[in-house]
Amino acid sequence: MSTQSNSSSDLKRITTHQLQAMKNRGEKIAMLTAYDFSMASLIDGAGIDIILVGDSASNVIAGHETTLPITLDQMIYHASAVVRAVKRAFVLVDIPFGYYQGNSSEALRSAIRIMKESGAHGVKVEGGAEIQESVKRIISAGVPVMGHLGLTPQSIYKFGTYTVRAKEEMEAEKLIQDALLLEECGCFGVLFEKIPASLAAEVTNRLSVPTIGIGAGSGTDGQVLVMHDMLGITKDFNPRFLRRYADLQTTIDQAVKEYVADVKSVSFPNQDESY
Ligand code: KIV
Repeated sequence: MSTQSNSSSDLKRITTHQLQAMKNRGEKIAMLTAYDFSMASLIDGAGIDIILVGDSASNVIAGHETTLPITLDQMIYHASAVVRAVKRAFVLVDIPFGYYQGNSSEALRSAIRIMKESGAHGVKVEGGAEIQESVKRIISAGVPVMGHLGLTPQSIYKFGTYTVRAKEEMEAEKLIQDALLLEECGCFGVLFEKIPASLAAEVTNRLSVPTIGIGAGSGTDGQVLVMHDMLGITKDFNPRFLRRYADLQTTIDQAVKEYVADVKSVSFPNQDESY
């Protein structure tokens, strides 16, 4: 009996094994966020390796100021829509704030709900030594886990600001130890957000599992961006690390203005567009 759900006509799915092989042969890993069926289908078709159903959905989809309010049920809703669209990419889902910190049984329950109810392929959690029991417990159930260190947005009220993390030696040393610990716990990868490029490169060299960076320079094994930012749908967010590959805000604005004008002037619909 085959354990692979994809038929022979399907593209080969990206697995944790393949992500590790990419690091080993020096091939960079491309990761983007997505939160719905249509966009996940587009970016999967365009060859993205990992789709992150990020808790940034709290910001870009729900309009909250931080990632803290999003619930596990809401993450599962977004993740199942993404999973239904994806043929090739590895689908990774953030466990949201309040569903894994400080209680490894709850962490395991949350991870299992995500895997069972959405069909995703792995989960991501923020933090190092503080959450190691949760990480180990989730991995012991056979769920792939990616760690997330540096600027961890679920702790924004502890940091007080979104500036670059681990610039000071003590925090950099803790980040290195946390990354090594996450690898030891069995994480299949570690994500670094907004830390000095030299530190990210150093930890990447010391870890055998793949690293992904956002605002962490080019020395990590892969890169991630929030899709709405890189496509220019959001425009009031302009950190130095963000490269915009499209200006969809302008495209959408122009298209909607044209549509409004066409409706008002009764040039839409025309005869060919009517039954
Ligand atoms: O939620 C998210 O989109 C993330 C990325 C910023 C890495 O965690």
